[in-house]
Amino acid sequence: HEEFTKVKNIDKIELGRHIMDTWYFSPYPQEFKDCKMLYLCEYSLHFFKRRSQMLRHMQKCRAKHPPGEEIYRNGNVCMFEVDGKKEKIFSQNLCYMAKLFLDHKTLYYDVDLFLFYILCEIDERGAHIVGYFSKEKCSEEGYNLACILTLPAYQRKGYGKFLISMSYELSKIEGKVGTPERPLSDLGRVSYHGYWTRILLTIIKDHTGPISIKDLSEMTAIKTNDIVATLQQLNLIQYQKGQHVLYAAPKVVEKYLKQAGDAGLVVDPSKIIWTPYN
Ligand code: COA
Ligand code: NA
Repeated sequence: HEEFTKVKNIDKIELGRHIMDTWYFSPYPQEFKDCKMLYLCEYSLHFFKRRSQMLRHMQKCRAKHPPGEEIYRNGNVCMFEVDGKKEKIFSQNLCYMAKLFLDHKTLYYDVDLFLFYILCEIDERGAHIVGYFSKEKCSEEGYNLACILTLPAYQRKGYGKFLISMSYELSKIEGKVGTPERPLSDLGRVSYHGYWTRILLTIIKDHTGPISIKDLSEMTAIKTNDIVATLQQLNLIQYQKGQHVLYAAPKVVEKYLKQAGDAGLVVDPSKIIWTPYN
């Protein structure tokens, strides 16, 4: 894929109850290039130049939630799995929207190869998209997440942590370890570092007796490289005589756990109804 120009085109989007400033260029079709504001149907993510067009569409489009299969529901949140091949238009619309907030990720036109996990808040009107992550149906590199986005109106409320956590819960169900596709954005990197730190140090804190990187990886579905890098960054691991050795004084672990923040919106694995793609 050619790199796109980084000049931002669309200034704002209206989506459901929210108007959001965009962050980056997105290659919406040419005729939308000079729109200051794009109006999106919050269920199909169809985009329009005028609100009246969007409202007319929404009257016809009876959906009150994204397409796909509901794989999770707990209280007022739910998640849908969308197959890019079955829901091509929705998936392309999602990628266009996501690119408005993603700098360096390649926009995948080949949505066929991906599954999209759409996180929603539910109220009496419907299921409203909050964010999503995408995942390759078959990743040779062992990626369990390609792109992740929490829409700006919903950021900093713990949804990103939920999305990351869900990506690992799905890996656990698959019986695989996983890692996010690189490069990570700055916000992606802090979010992942926080997640890895919290998960790993919680286990280490409560564990008695020796524990290996491999044990940690099997318990969490976090790839060993990411475990080593996280613990190295925290200075809790040293490479000695060809082996990684964990030095984690309880006080230090406690301190880093505090710094890593809370768990955000927690995934209840017992509420996931999902079978791996194959
Ligand atoms: N400034 C500083 N730290 C931030 C931050 C910000 N604006 N946004 C998130 N973080 C860090 C914090 O450590 C936060 O934990 P805390 O609130 O306990 O301090 C942690 O990340 C996760 O917060 P959370 O509320 O769960 O994340 P989120 O719902 O805001 O989503 C992203 C995080 C990365 C998904 C979101 O920022 C996003 O969609 N960014 C644009 C797209 C992107 O860059 N995706 C990653 C591509 S690899
Ligand atoms: Na990329």
